[in-house]
Amino acid sequence: LNYLSPKSRAEIIELLIRGLERLEYRGYDSAGIGIDAVDSGLTLVKQTGKVKCLRDKIEAQQDSLDFGRELDIHAGIAHTRWATHGVPSDINSHPQRSDEANEFIVVHNGIITNYKDVKQFLIQKGFKFESDTDTEIIAKLIKHLRDLHPTYSFRELVEQVIQQLEGAFALAFKSKYFPGELVVTRRGSPLLVGIKTKEKLASDHIPVLYSKDGCEFGGRSLTSRERDCPEKVDLQDHRSHVYELPHGLARTESTAEFLPLGDDREVEYFFASDASAIIEHTNRVLYLLDDDVASVDSEGILKIHRLKRSLEDSHAREITTLKMEIQQIMKGNFSSFMQKEIFEQPESVVNTMRGRINFDNETVVLGGIKEHLSEIRRCRRLLLIACGTSYHSTIATRQLLEELTELPVMVDLASDFLDRNTPIFRDDVCFFVSQSGETADTLLALRYCKQRGALIVGITNTVGSSICRESHCGVHINAGPEIGVASTKAYTSQMISLVMFALMMSEDRISSQPRRSEIIQGLRVLPDQIKEVLSLDSKIQEISRSVFEKKSLLVLGRGYNYATCLEGALKIKEITYMHSEGILAGELKHGPLALVDEGMPIIMICTRDNVFVKCMNALQQVTAREGRPILICNKGDEEPQKYASKVLEVPKTVDCLQGLLTVIPLQLLSYHVAVLKGCNVDCPRNLAKSVTVE
Ligand code: G6P
Repeated sequence: LNYLSPKSRAEIIELLIRGLERLEYRGYDSAGIGIDAVDSGLTLVKQTGKVKCLRDKIEAQQDSLDFGRELDIHAGIAHTRWATHGVPSDINSHPQRSDEANEFIVVHNGIITNYKDVKQFLIQKGFKFESDTDTEIIAKLIKHLRDLHPTYSFRELVEQVIQQLEGAFALAFKSKYFPGELVVTRRGSPLLVGIKTKEKLASDHIPVLYSKDGCEFGGRSLTSRERDCPEKVDLQDHRSHVYELPHGLARTESTAEFLPLGDDREVEYFFASDASAIIEHTNRVLYLLDDDVASVDSEGILKIHRLKRSLEDSHAREITTLKMEIQQIMKGNFSSFMQKEIFEQPESVVNTMRGRINFDNETVVLGGIKEHLSEIRRCRRLLLIACGTSYHSTIATRQLLEELTELPVMVDLASDFLDRNTPIFRDDVCFFVSQSGETADTLLALRYCKQRGALIVGITNTVGSSICRESHCGVHINAGPEIGVASTKAYTSQMISLVMFALMMSEDRISSQPRRSEIIQGLRVLPDQIKEVLSLDSKIQEISRSVFEKKSLLVLGRGYNYATCLEGALKIKEITYMHSEGILAGELKHGPLALVDEGMPIIMICTRDNVFVKCMNALQQVTAREGRPILICNKGDEEPQKYASKVLEVPKTVDCLQGLLTVIPLQLLSYHVAVLKGCNVDCPRNLAKSVTVE
């Protein structure tokens, strides 16, 4: 999204679309733009599919969009979507709007977790919703506030809006009431400003203005009582006394100082969720902080406001110069999407849990399953069906599901399940786990079970995918788009989704409360523990040098870590083309032990859980055959380390979550081995990200 001075409409639209193409790797199920209309108001163009489809639609409307028109000042916003709420469709694409007259439009990256409450409030106020998105409430809320406070500036309205929002967002607004103006803000999701000027900037810092210095009250969100009885409360009521208008601060000379304002002033502002969208225009950027509200007015002046001063705030945002190539920016400092996705896991797991787990009162709500919970509790058995990595996530969580649901749990590879013509009953509950939601084998198994009357639960990363559409209910894992063919962050998010399901199923059982509590508290600290594991990267790179020329690599473990062995071995096979096998340590003596000698690379996972002693036995069996295993164990646990040639220590967590931490060193190892062998990490030979054929 960007803000420009004199250009033709065609150039502006092209700039927006090119920006979207650069961002397409972040999401690509639909796209849209919103620009000042030719005469007045705003024009929206939205289209399901890739950005290319939007480009085609716009080109077909060249005349009505008045491509040739020259404009002195112009603002537009654009968005490429990866659905979280609502299937990919033209209506659900962004910009979302306040009403048919497009009074306010908004694009959003993130998830609004309290959107249902706000939506209910707005419905009571007479708003009619057209999409299934969480974003639409934002467009309608700002209109509602404008109707109440017609004298507020655009930026003031946005400040009011974000006080009502919970969750994560980067937002860009336009309004027909404020032509040529643009307001953006963020909380939790990234947002940066690019600045392009002909002349050098007078300063490298933009001062932050405080709408209400030392504000005692700040804003507040609706309380749950107010949400339940919206007729008794109006946003106006509590705004008027908690928030005073910052008229005195609306124009501060210092804001303009950094710009070389002359007669031939020419400045362009770009706002984007990452630098890849704008780097071809400018490398001068500043990163907005949470709750910053940046606005560009119709005179082309950029201001950054905050509602109140916080202690750690630096009072200015620094403009920095990026020295990166586009390719590098898309992948950050990472050399491949797979590496980037591995390192994204501290955030992706938070996104999976966001708005679902309340860590304080220890409740878990999966909105997409909640209605079917009593039916699921009465079922005969749970079946979990998937392929590849997704299948491993079902193995990883089976034991906990059995424990917390007290139901028989079957896990199956979709292809094998189909080959067997497995009996399925009306009172079965069948889960289909799939990152893409399109895997043919999984989809066929779903249809097979649906035909036999079972309840179908989809667990996918792709809203609107075939598995989503054909399921009765489900969970969206919210890991964000995964580009690398070898799945990494989707795996940890799938596991967490299934753990959350188990927690929800056991909510009412008193005897399960201590167990539930330790798991929920384990999930709370998980993101930091993942970061700790990721800091082993250079050590793992070193270890990969010792194994990359070997023919084979065995990964041994049992109990909760067995899934890690299978998943680790799959990663190694997929992207390094090295033979690798995940072996259940209990089976060692029934065959695999014959493979062990001093030359065979072995990774052994041995963490402190109920099978620790048995794992120690296996470890000793391996060393007795001259094997010198690479050990993955709990931090500070010296006992197993005596038998290891190399050690990777991961933090200790609850047994059923330990696999989320032990899998990461293996993801990293496979990545480093692939790089050392010169393999294409993101696109391994012969494999596809989504296998849509049987
Ligand atoms: C392919 C991919 C794997 C993935 C599997 C299942 O084989 O290469 O990474 O685990 O499909 O895909 P799904 O989208 O159903 O999770």
